[in-house]
Amino acid sequence: MEGGQRLRCFHVRTFPAPAAGFEVPGLREYPVYINNDGFGLAEKLADKLRGREVEAIVSRRIPASARNVVYLGMAGGQSQVAEATELNLEAFRTARNVAGTMEKEDGFFLTVQSTGGDFGLSGRAGHQVWSAGVAALAKTAAREWPRAFVKALDLDSSLSLETMAECICDELFSGGLEKEVGYLSDGTRIAVGLAESGPKGEQEKGYDPLAPYDTVLVSGGARGVTADSLLALAKKKPLRFILLGRSSLTQEEEGLSGEEDEKQLTRLLSERALRLGESPAPLEIRKKVRALLAAREIRRTITQLKQAGSEACYLAVDITQEEALQRAVLPLREKWGAIHGLVHGAGVLADKRIKDKKDEQFQRIFSTKVKGFQNLLRLTEGDDLKLIACFSSAAAREGNIGQCDYAMANEIMNKVARQQKKARGNALVKSFNWGPWEGGMVDAALKKHFASQGVALIPRSAGAEFFAEEACGANPREVEVVVGMARPGAASFMAGEAREFRLHLVLEPGKNRFLEDHRIQDHRVVPMVLVNEWFHRLAQSLYPGLPISHGEALRVLKGIRIHQLDNAPRTLLIKGKAVRAEKEQGIRVHLQLEDPKGAAYYAGQLVLGKQAASMKPADPPEHGGSMPWEMERERIYGDYLFHGPSFQVVRQLHSVHAAGGMGRLDWPSRKERDRDLDLATAPVLMDGGLQLARLWGYQYYRKPSLPMRIGRFRISAKQQKKGPVHCHLTVLQQNTHKFVADLAFFNREQACFALMEQVEIYFYNTGL
Ligand SMILES: NC(=O)c1ccc[n+]([C@@H]2O[C@H](COP(=O)([O-])OP(=O)(O)OC[C@H]3O[C@@H](n4cnc5c(N)ncnc54)[C@H](OP(=O)(O)O)[C@@H]3O)[C@@H](O)[C@H]2O)c1
Repeated sequence: MEGGQRLRCFHVRTFPAPAAGFEVPGLREYPVYINNDGFGLAEKLADKLRGREVEAIVSRRIPASARNVVYLGMAGGQSQVAEATELNLEAFRTARNVAGTMEKEDGFFLTVQSTGGDFGLSGRAGHQVWSAGVAALAKTAAREWPRAFVKALDLDSSLSLETMAECICDELFSGGLEKEVGYLSDGTRIAVGLAESGPKGEQEKGYDPLAPYDTVLVSGGARGVTADSLLALAKKKPLRFILLGRSSLTQEEEGLSGEEDEKQLTRLLSERALRLGESPAPLEIRKKVRALLAAREIRRTITQLKQAGSEACYLAVDITQEEALQRAVLPLREKWGAIHGLVHGAGVLADKRIKDKKDEQFQRIFSTKVKGFQNLLRLTEGDDLKLIACFSSAAAREGNIGQCDYAMANEIMNKVARQQKKARGNALVKSFNWGPWEGGMVDAALKKHFASQGVALIPRSAGAEFFAEEACGANPREVEVVVGMARPGAASFMAGEAREFRLHLVLEPGKNRFLEDHRIQDHRVVPMVLVNEWFHRLAQSLYPGLPISHGEALRVLKGIRIHQLDNAPRTLLIKGKAVRAEKEQGIRVHLQLEDPKGAAYYAGQLVLGKQAASMKPADPPEHGGSMPWEMERERIYGDYLFHGPSFQVVRQLHSVHAAGGMGRLDWPSRKERDRDLDLATAPVLMDGGLQLARLWGYQYYRKPSLPMRIGRFRISAKQQKKGPVHCHLTVLQQNTHKFVADLAFFNREQACFALMEQVEIYFYNTGL
């Protein structure tokens, strides 16, 4: 494949996602509007918000000026497919109504649906699955409204209204940056993310569902990338294809057959009309040319399928028209018998931002996929389908500017496909969330756009071959596959734009115990390791399931002292930007912690992509031999270290020398563990390492010291939170102002599980 790039395939997964603990900005500043859902959740939620001193207004129609919106797009008694489908349009209208405000102002837009608590991934959402597009609306809105905070929530319908209201509140007061968050029936909070599939050889081969000369009904199959895909499939085995499309197979006028170029054809037809004394509008000529090219493409597909040994028949019909569809297919049914495979490839695009999209435009794009799918499923109700394949789009997974209708419709297909899989057991069901191809609806203008974004397109032959292999049973368990030429970037496969974000961190009186245990010269000071933890949590919530490779350049710009915490909560702001990390082939997240007036306290970066398989600390430098530490372990807390009980993890001081030292740390006991500190980056333990460095500073320079910069930080995702931990301090540089050290942490099996490298530690005399 050109440029050495290969087609990559990802699977949609849910990941357990404990709430990251951050508050949506603006929550306490502007009223929260909630649409009246008619079954009591809106009122319950409003009461809960009011109980936390947030103004909440339940309204039938949300005003255009609303900055904070909760859209309840779920329905208690929705039993009918049509009603559930209608919710998507309603959600779109609500979004459109506030889009002008959301584009300009900082606000939030939270959608709530009820498709099983896992966005329909389990295939158990019932008829509600037809409302699953609401999440894709949120994902598109998130990209069209970069100033706003947008999130999709899915609540399992078995949760009580009380719990549902609680979950929504939790998301607003202490959530994270995940775009899709679900609450399962047992209350577990999950997020949706992607996991890359293994190399081809590792994939499980399932049964090949279609037998030679089975009949496959294909919407949109005579043209574009679906036609390419069918041809690749036909090369593997002969089949009978019923191809559906709206274009009619008009006879071509004489004298045009050699001409392929659209512009040339337009010129030829215009000249011909002039010669005949006609004066058709340019639009009419263009339509004629397009129809001519479409008919040619259809004929070519049929010929190629036949040449490959299959039978193929084309029916000109609009699949959104149920009766016409039934009528059109009937004669072929009588001729060829039962239908064995269904491929839904029909789709149309007409991009417009949410703000500017009209209902009719939405309906046209949306119904081609959704109504079309409903009609095709009804048409084949009595058939024992062995294969169902949908041509969906990465826009469904990630949202895409201008494509809310398209993204929503594709997302519904994805989730209905999952439900079909559940219902049909043995059938092979696939929904291909394609990134952009080098063809089909990606015309010259779109190609140029993608090139400018640095987005590689799927070569037609590679995409088609991928489809054919999957349709023949490669990877049978995965229903929803996301396919493109790269790992989704900062924003997506389809655009390289940076993703920016802001969230509040509210430190509350009496709630954050770690502050009481971290006082320097009587000031409560936010520990550096905790900032490291917050940054990790936020970055992880941006991309659930994407491993954090390492942290870089975490630095104190100004220490955070917390004075008035006894009186009022203290709000801090974390803001950041995620961009593509070309070198690491992942994502780099830049983060900064500020006060609301913009004074910066901390800055740092995190790189997401791959986690290193093993961690090897650098060899320690030469030194003149080790000796015992001069301080007694029992007296370190109080005499040398200011840390209160929850941070007291240094258990033994082994040995020390001019270029480092060793000590034993213990995980804090369960009882001593503060919820804020019992987390992914083991902040208390990491602080223990920094405490060891402080002791080293006392021993060799007789001065207190504090870390101001951590050059690089890595921690293994899997650690046992118990047992002794041995910490090795290696001093790399030293003078009377500062020293630079590495800290390596080893578990009881002597494996290094965390590394803090190039930590810059500064001495101070008095004051901070
Ligand atoms: N190309 C890509 O980069 C890409 C990326 C992601 C997903 N996809 C998906 O892949 C599928 C094929 O896309 P493509 O790029 O090949 O587009 P395309 O060249 O525009 O083909 C679309 C096909 O759908 C048919 N169609 C549209 N509306 C229909 C209706 N109401 N009834 C019956 N047939 C209808 C069209 O035929 P008529 O015009 O004759 O009706 C045409 O055959 C689409 O579903 C698209 O969403 C494509």
